Amino acid sequence: NGEMLPWTGETSDVFSPICVKTKDGLQRKRIGSYPVCTEKQSMEALEAAVQAYNSGRGEWPTMSVADRIACVERFTQQMIDKKEIVVKLIMWEIGKSYMDSVKEFDRTVEYIYATIDALKDVDRDSSRFQIEQGIIAQIRRSPLGVVLCMGPFNYPLNETFTTLIPALIMGNTLLFKPPKHGTLLHYPLLEAFRTSFPKGVVNTIYGRGNKIVPQLMQSGKINVLTLIGSSRVADELKKLHPRVNRLRAILGLDAKNAAIITKDADLDLAVSETVLGALSFNGQRCTALKIIYVHRSMAPEFLKRLSTAVGKLKYGMPWEKDVALTPLPEVNKPAYLTECLEDARKHGAKVVNEHGGEMLESFFYPAIVYPVNAQMKLYREEQFGPVIPVVPFDDLEEPIEYLIESSHGQQVSIFSNNAAVISSLIDPLVNQVSRVNVNSQCQRGPDTFPFTGRKDSAEGTLSVVDALRSFSIRSLVATKNTDKNKK
Ligand code: G3H
Repeated sequence: NGEMLPWTGETSDVFSPICVKTKDGLQRKRIGSYPVCTEKQSMEALEAAVQAYNSGRGEWPTMSVADRIACVERFTQQMIDKKEIVVKLIMWEIGKSYMDSVKEFDRTVEYIYATIDALKDVDRDSSRFQIEQGIIAQIRRSPLGVVLCMGPFNYPLNETFTTLIPALIMGNTLLFKPPKHGTLLHYPLLEAFRTSFPKGVVNTIYGRGNKIVPQLMQSGKINVLTLIGSSRVADELKKLHPRVNRLRAILGLDAKNAAIITKDADLDLAVSETVLGALSFNGQRCTALKIIYVHRSMAPEFLKRLSTAVGKLKYGMPWEKDVALTPLPEVNKPAYLTECLEDARKHGAKVVNEHGGEMLESFFYPAIVYPVNAQMKLYREEQFGPVIPVVPFDDLEEPIEYLIESSHGQQVSIFSNNAAVISSLIDPLVNQVSRVNVNSQCQRGPDTFPFTGRKDSAEGTLSVVDALRSFSIRSLVATKNTDKNKK
């Protein structure tokens, strides 16, 4: 509610994935701590958001679009001033390379300005009047109420702000819970929130999500749940809402994006895009390539070239030059990935690249696994880390069947130089996933493109214009076209 609360109760330490040598071996470095909100404090924050919205009568939801934009611009300017510290915290908290951390920051700022521009267009539309059947209609976009906003650890700034900013700028009030990994980096922005928006419009809560979030949902006072994270958590949270049918959910969830490398593919291109798609930020992207289908005749050569390309990737600390592989923020991830590799070996696959799956100091070295089959965890589970499962196929129906049976439906990549093969794949694939990439890795960007998914991968659509629509309702003021009104 526009105030920084004193740290009176419990605090939680933040440990970096970057390790330091101690007498007991490599240990994660403690880089800070944050206050853990009590259940009472988080309910007070919710009440502040409810009061600021005031059933749509608050200062923020009734403010002109131009004034709301001015507040967001003021915030963004202060955010830009904090770039250096925020970038540093992204590197230390989640181990993202310097280049990628800067990219994440800049991309977020670009996204905010693109959103402002798009809103100006929406606002221009609302000053046009539509006259039909004796009615003068002004079509507007109106806010939805109180939004609970939660972002992911892998893009703690960009993914969070691609929901937070459109939700805010459309006139909703917010309860914002930063992700567990990627909490500290939001701290420098709190003052910017406080000084840029009216009291109670943005309320940031820190703490244990599994304790404080359920009661927020149970209160029935959340109108929109926006979460970029796990499908399971989204399902569990939605169920807690007493009027779930009245809840709008804007969700970016689990994905298991596949690449299909046909026998007429440019193999060098397929290899370089697979490396980018499967291993950028150590494979910790919802858009990452998480399973590779390769035509059986191409498999030996593909694996050879892929192993060589992976062997050239430099691993190191986020701030080192040209570093591609960095330490993983999730403490249990190496153990989980090792378990997946053991399971794959048990069912007849091998790790085909040198050092694949080994811990080299604090780095989990990427593993290429072949031949992967339906009995293995790596076939269905979203590994969200540096492991590349490769499946050989004889008939193109096999990867299509895989996608049809999958509970995920975000993206797919096709690698082929044969136009007829590409066009025969597009229709069956675009009806299974929300984006088909031709001769390119899967990715979200550019951020102005619609971003969604089918099945368990998403609900609602994000991007610039789509997000403004998602966080608002198209409403209208309809006036009877009497002679008096005409004047
Ligand atoms: O984790 C999901 C991100 O939105 C991925 O974005 O494809 O641009 O890396 P990206």
